Amino acid sequence: MPLPLLIAIDGPAASGKGTLARRLADYFHLAHLDTGLTYRAVAHEMLRRGWPLDDAEHAVDAAGQVDLTALDKHALSAHAVADAASKVAVIPEVRRVLVDKQRAFAAQEGGAVIDGRDIGTVVCPDAEVKLFVTASAEVRAGRRLRDIESRGGHAELDEILDDIRRRDERDMGRADSPLRPATDAHLLDTSEMSIEAAFQAARAIVDDALAKRKQA
Ligand code: CDP
Ligand code: CDP
Repeated sequence: MPLPLLIAIDGPAASGKGTLARRLADYFHLAHLDTGLTYRAVAHEMLRRGWPLDDAEHAVDAAGQVDLTALDKHALSAHAVADAASKVAVIPEVRRVLVDKQRAFAAQEGGAVIDGRDIGTVVCPDAEVKLFVTASAEVRAGRRLRDIESRGGHAELDEILDDIRRRDERDMGRADSPLRPATDAHLLDTSEMSIEAAFQAARAIVDDALAKRKQA
């Protein structure tokens, strides 16, 4: 019986990791989990209840309530929710509760693609394929702006760029599970890559890993 294929994808905001994860999951017939949504769900609940984002006790309770089968991407898409997510994500007990749920998802029989910030380093250090997706902050801000405008919203590029830089710093600078590539991750800079080109590059990396399996 072949091992279930587990692909870990990490990277900063709007690097294209989610789009890539979905394409790979479709292509290789794997389940997909966007772990960012789990942190967003905690943040959304804290904001809704008016609880301070550094209230660890309530944040851990909210993390315990997160249901991976009921994550509503649309309801969690707001910029403010992403920013709040990066604040609750510094609380180690919140991470522990969410990481347990993410690991259970990763262990499913058919294999999975999981994307986030600490998948290759902490959640699934034994993943068969690890990708670290990056793009310049300017390119990422432009992508986020287009996402917002395509939903009928309005935003200023400079403000998005500031937000992205602030969130990068918070995600890379936190003590628990900071954003960084695993030592065995393949780096993919998508700054000048189309979605299709990024997918083809990632697919080749996965194919290579599968071919090595056959040789073993
Ligand atoms: O998941 P993450 O925040 O890393 O990014 P995403 O939601 O996958 O991508 C952010 C936006 O950039 C989306 O609108 C993608 O269509 C777009 N994108 C792109 O223009 N070129 C790429 N190579 C990857 C994504
Ligand atoms: O879509 P985007 O890349 O902008 O953000 P996201 O993936 O939805 O993540 C929102 C925030 O959750 C990030 O800025 C991180 O602070 C946090 N996060 C994390 O700490 N660990 C993960 N595995 C995923 C997200």
